[in-house]
Amino acid sequence: MTLPQHVRLVEVGPRDGLQNEKQPISVEDKVRLVDDLSAAGLAYIEVGSFVSPKWVPQMAGSAEVFTRIQRRPGVTYAALTPNMKGFEAALAAGVREVAVFAAASERFSQKNINCSIADSLARFVPLLDAAKARGVRVRGYISCVLGCPYEGEVPAAQVAAVARELYAMGCYEISLGDTIGTGTAGATRQLFEVVGRDIPRDRLAGHFHDTYGQALANVYAGLLEGISVFDSSVAGLGGCPYAKGATGNVATEDVLYLLQGLGIETGIDLDRLVAAGQRICNVLDKPNGSRVARARLSRG
Ligand code: HMG
Ligand code: MG
Repeated sequence: MTLPQHVRLVEVGPRDGLQNEKQPISVEDKVRLVDDLSAAGLAYIEVGSFVSPKWVPQMAGSAEVFTRIQRRPGVTYAALTPNMKGFEAALAAGVREVAVFAAASERFSQKNINCSIADSLARFVPLLDAAKARGVRVRGYISCVLGCPYEGEVPAAQVAAVARELYAMGCYEISLGDTIGTGTAGATRQLFEVVGRDIPRDRLAGHFHDTYGQALANVYAGLLEGISVFDSSVAGLGGCPYAKGATGNVATEDVLYLLQGLGIETGIDLDRLVAAGQRICNVLDKPNGSRVARARLSRG
């Protein structure tokens, strides 16, 4: 199997990374993080989400963040939108790309967005239609693709069924989320093999949380399956508020180091990325979750 020559990294740190933080984080610090990431060469940054502030208080300031970031040409600045209300609010803040998020397990869907999988998909249809009419691209997420905190094992066929629906309604890319990080490389390969029967592999992405320390291996497993888009979070920040104990995404620095070693081009500057990650860790007063960043910073 030949590996992809180019990989696109979707930086989810400002959203997935920060959404679970209990301490207040200023709009200035969020804007600075996004600007640092674009300056490091990240071409796709998930900046925030337009969800209920009662459910995820940390994302309440997303509109302000969007209006204050420095928009670099060629960079996509995206937001999560669970329904029309969120979509309209995102548009009003100048957002030009959004993501909807469904789950492969019923109980997680209820906990995360307070409705069944079928209801969530029905809710996305008018959003996709409105987005199409306005020329806004929509990405689709599926959570719990390699395990659910409430239901345990999740069959790949169940993931494939949700992926087919999201793709059919117009999501240009489907990101498969290992929300609780229990997936292993073998299961990841099998998942992409099954979902890839219905959806072209260049329309699939991997989103691996690193709770069990498997995320980087799962990225490599995805590469072996011909997947060339991966979500990651600078300094490994994050966790999902509705998956207790789930830790951050795979660290962007660590994925970049892996890709560089494989000779795969991304256009991202590792040193600037490490600096961006350490800066937000200092703000949060947290240890850096990237092994590569820790190693580079300890060299002095
Ligand atoms: P609900 O309570 O069922 O919604 O929540 P509702 O339509 O009945 O409305 C209730 C209240 O929420 C109303 O306000 C609405 O106006 C308001 P009230 O009248 O009570 O004052 N509301 C909103 N406010 C702001 N923005 C909105 C919005 N919609 C309704 N868009 C809802 C349903 C989906 C809104 C709620 O469950 C929610 O916001 N959930 C947030 C879920 C979330 O953000 N989870 C984390 C992101 S997903 C993730 O991390 C996984 C991922 O990384 C992949 C992976 O790792 O697996 C993507
Ligand atoms: Mg996530």
